[in-house]
Order: sequence, then C-alpha cells, then structure tokens
Amino acid sequence: MMKIDVVTLFPEMFDGPLGHSIVKRAIEKDIVEVNKVNFRQFGKGKHQVVDDTPYGGGAGMLLKPEPLFEAMDSINERDPETKKRVILMDPAGKPFNQAMAEDFSEEEHLVFLCGHYEGYDERIRSLVTDEVSLGDYVLTGGELAAMVMIDATVRLLPEVLGNASSAQTDSHSSGLLEHPHYTRPAEYKGMKVPEVLMNGNHGLIEAWRHEESLKRTFERRPDMLESYDLSDRDKSLIEK
Ligand code: ADE
Repeated sequence: MMKIDVVTLFPEMFDGPLGHSIVKRAIEKDIVEVNKVNFRQFGKGKHQVVDDTPYGGGAGMLLKPEPLFEAMDSINERDPETKKRVILMDPAGKPFNQAMAEDFSEEEHLVFLCGHYEGYDERIRSLVTDEVSLGDYVLTGGELAAMVMIDATVRLLPEVLGNASSAQTDSHSSGLLEHPHYTRPAEYKGMKVPEVLMNGNHGLIEAWRHEESLKRTFERRPDMLESYDLSDRDKSLIEK
C-alpha cells in the first residue's frame, strides 16, 4: 500500500477531493493511505503560532521552520522504515507533469508539504527531496497543488482504474494528446461518428487514432512534439 502524508494548516480542504470517486475507492480498497498532519499542532506558545515576520524586513509572513521540522519528525517516528519522497509545493519549483506523476506512483511513501502566506523559511528546503509547482501562477497555498498531484499519482497505481489500459492511452502518457472519442448515437444533431470507427477494422482504427492524436498535438501543443520520436510517416502527415 502506498502511504501519503500531507502536511498542511488546512487538512479539511482535502476531504472533498479525496472523498469522492476514484481516489475514495483507492483509499477504501487499501491501495493508498492518506494521512493529514496539521502542523498547527507544532506551533509555538499558547496560540500555536506557525508564522513570523521576515528577517531583513519586507511584506508578509513566513512559515517558521520548527513546526514543519517537528511535523516531519512525527511522520518519521510513525513510519521509521519507509523511504520518503518529501515534496514541497512551491510556485518556483519544477512544473508538475505526467512523467512526475508516474515517478511518484512508483514510490512507497510520499509527503506533501503545503505552504501558506508569503512563503517559508529557507531552511525548510533541507527536509525536501522535490520542489514542485502546479504551474506558472500563484495559489493562496500549496493545498490545491498537492490535491492535483495526489489525484494524478493515485490514478496510476495498479488496480485503481477499472480498465487497466486506460492510464496508458491517456493524453500525455504516450507523449501525444489523446485522439477524439465517440459513443452512440452514430449521428447526433447532424454530427456523424467517423465511418472508420464503425467498420470493425482494428488496424485502420489504430492508424486513424494515431493520426488524429498527432494532428491534435501538432495543432494545440506543438511543443510536445519536440520530445516525441516522429516516424517518417508521422512527419509526412503533419507536413501536408
Ligand atoms: N503554492 C502557491 N502557488 C503554487 C503553485 N503554483 N504550485 C505549487 N504550490 C504553490
């Protein structure tokens, strides 16, 4: 079973996303365990203070180092054996992508550290193995980023998706965007399902799907083709 700890000041934010559908089922099936650690409990003094003003001046508050170090100590005490990936949610981190989700899904124990306020004391980074951003925008805290990363990771764990092959054919896992999909009816409001999908010729269907994936990627995300190994036939398809 994969273990996930989320270190956050807002553990209840995770109840919605982790309490539904596929991730909920993965938790119920003991494929993954998600434990929330509120580092407020390691805050200082009667008011359990977790933040303070920056040395040198400047706007905003920073997370103090001690509560996060103590939260990590509590996780290590509970699970001394497991090797942990400690992932800091940081808009200045490496942008999250499918390859990272695949990498995380191979691990035994993930710890997500969610910041808040203007940032954290730099010494927190010494706890961390990965600094990851959800994208080039600033959120009010790391929680939403962690939820997205947990969702993208958990669905890749064996046995989580009903159809074992569906994770492999997703957009991004092949290096191309996914081809279009159709279901019944064969015609709706004048829009027809492509003939090739209904004639049962699997070779032709696969060729059509690959071509559509390629065209879609070329039109919408040409940047993805820079790291995709195009065949000669692929090249001729996007050149015409
Ligand atoms: N915290 C605030 N903004 C973030 C982002 N884009 N990614 C990860 N953590 C964040």
